[in-house]
Amino acid sequence: MKPINVGLLGIGTVGGGTFTVLSRNQEEITRRAGRPIRITTVADRNVELARSIVGDRARITADAFELVRDPEIDIVIELIGGYGVAKELILAAIENGKHVVTANKALLALHGNEIFAAASRKGVMVAFEAAVGGGIPIIKALREGLTANRIEWLAGIINGTTNFILTEMRDKGLSFEAVLGEAQKLGYAEADPTFDVEGVDAAHKLTIMSAIAFGVPIQFEKTYIEGISRLAREDIAYAEELGYRIKLLGIARRTARGLEQRVHPTLIPERRLIANVDGVMNAVLVKGDAVGHTLYYGRGAGAEPTASAVVADLVDVTRMHTSDPEHRVPHLAFQADQLVELPV
Ligand code: HSE
Repeated sequence: MKPINVGLLGIGTVGGGTFTVLSRNQEEITRRAGRPIRITTVADRNVELARSIVGDRARITADAFELVRDPEIDIVIELIGGYGVAKELILAAIENGKHVVTANKALLALHGNEIFAAASRKGVMVAFEAAVGGGIPIIKALREGLTANRIEWLAGIINGTTNFILTEMRDKGLSFEAVLGEAQKLGYAEADPTFDVEGVDAAHKLTIMSAIAFGVPIQFEKTYIEGISRLAREDIAYAEELGYRIKLLGIARRTARGLEQRVHPTLIPERRLIANVDGVMNAVLVKGDAVGHTLYYGRGAGAEPTASAVVADLVDVTRMHTSDPEHRVPHLAFQADQLVELPV
């Protein structure tokens, strides 16, 4: 069985987790993918750091553009993050006929339409399960499991850092600032933690889910965004007294005017399941017309939970890669030339 060769752009927490999961579960993964999957090359500016994580399991290069052009590589995993070089590299990988797996929600939220259009033109896949909800397979649930449904709305706790902060403020009576420092130390927060606390990261993820659920283009700029940085301990305590929890929710729903996308702190009655999703855990509630309410719950950040989603995409892409391109199941939620613009 000819192995699938993977190039990894950017090695860090999730990259390290991806090596661990691939090697620990090698047998099952090979069986499920139909052939072995191996990371052959890692590109990172910090070659020494990369070497300390990767050891001699893969070749290391500082030249990421060399990796995306390497004819030996079938799939490129992008874990660099941000909008700049990550976008250039993904587009270059697509141009070179590579499938792409990415966890880059910020990039997809802002430039996903362009990236998916480029992938469709080239007949390659861009898979992004790890971009939303960490290890929770919410993208696959929306795209595959719920595909028979007209989705009415979805609402989720989709930022682990803010959920961790809100939980610690409530349980330990700590201030916002004290808990933010802890979340950063634990490696949950974004490089720029204002993305977490101001609701931007949740909005990135919401707009990606919304595009799949409602068949619309990714429309980050039309999302109402309010974070948790102005919440005080007292707000949380008062809510508690009245039988409510405060959660940062991302909500997308159909209205008479069109699709509405918003992120803001929300009061939720404490008897609701989602009100009891604490710490770094994420949860997404989806209401479909046929299935009714469904709930997806799991770790929304961290090395192995996110690697679980990255490796799932590798397996998915490997299966597709071996199928006849003419008869591939369309893997993206929409075709770029069929997009409809809904008012928000
Ligand atoms: N900063 C993100 C979070 C990481 O806290 O959820 C996972 O996307």
